[in-house]
Amino acid sequence: MKVVTIERWPEAQPRDYRSDLEAGNIVFVPRTPFAFPKESRDFLRSLEFGGGAIHKNIAYRTQSDKVTGIDAGAAEAKRLHDVMRSYSQNVVRFVSELLPQYAAQWKLDYASFRPVEEHGRDLPLNKRNDLIHTDAFPSRPTKGDLILRVFTNIHPEKKRVWITADPFRIVAEKYACDAGLTNIAESVDSTAGRLKNASARLLQSVGVPVVPRSAYDSFMLHFHEYLKRNTDFQANTRKYEFEFPPDSTWMCFTDVVPHSVKAGQHAVEQTFIISRVSLADPSSAPLAILEQICGKPLAA
Ligand code: SIN
Ligand code: FE
Repeated sequence: MKVVTIERWPEAQPRDYRSDLEAGNIVFVPRTPFAFPKESRDFLRSLEFGGGAIHKNIAYRTQSDKVTGIDAGAAEAKRLHDVMRSYSQNVVRFVSELLPQYAAQWKLDYASFRPVEEHGRDLPLNKRNDLIHTDAFPSRPTKGDLILRVFTNIHPEKKRVWITADPFRIVAEKYACDAGLTNIAESVDSTAGRLKNASARLLQSVGVPVVPRSAYDSFMLHFHEYLKRNTDFQANTRKYEFEFPPDSTWMCFTDVVPHSVKAGQHAVEQTFIISRVSLADPSSAPLAILEQICGKPLAA
């Protein structure tokens, strides 16, 4: 895997970056190519996360235009909302110009602010981001669509350092069966599996917050943790290290690119759910790769 750099934006010669991303590469812009005022960056970095009204997980929900992770009455709530909304809008505009074919069908997911130094964080295994993993969202199954994440490093001096591994196809061919792909594929298709999903849908329809999951989503959620727990994979997989300097922006499919963050503080991020039918090569989607490995439909 590699980094594909966009030296200048807009580019003289527009280019389709879909294949680069779908192959498991990172698209990198050394200087953030959209407006992100210094005062907004300073404001985000000045927030105090000492267990008061502001929490460590700040998210901006694009669909409902709401910020979570801060008490509504907090003095900084209005400004934080403005700054997160403006980041989200600006990054969305940039990415829709960069990847118009994706933009035609994508679903905007959350934006987030990551205020904590990543080096030496003490978190439970499943939440640790210093262990290499592919992303999957417990509360937002994608049914085979892909997770594209765009990050901006707003720390004035520190780089954000990532370790990545070979893309999903290579990792899945080696580990998906050991991780239980066949069982998961069969259990969702079984009578018990169908019943479980039918009752989840019923409960959901009357407002109970349960999440019906396709076999694909069950597997991806499990694989996230499986990779984190797999000491052979963590120690021996081929690794690539990337340093993202202050004021840079970068993006990749975080379900295609196994990744971890080794160090860095103060990043902002926007997530997009990319429809798999808008891929330049739909057979490069993790869903297609897994279906090929197990020979069963996983998101029917
Ligand atoms: C992750 O998605 O695992 C963390 C990436 C980051 O915050 O740099
Ligand atoms: Fe991740």
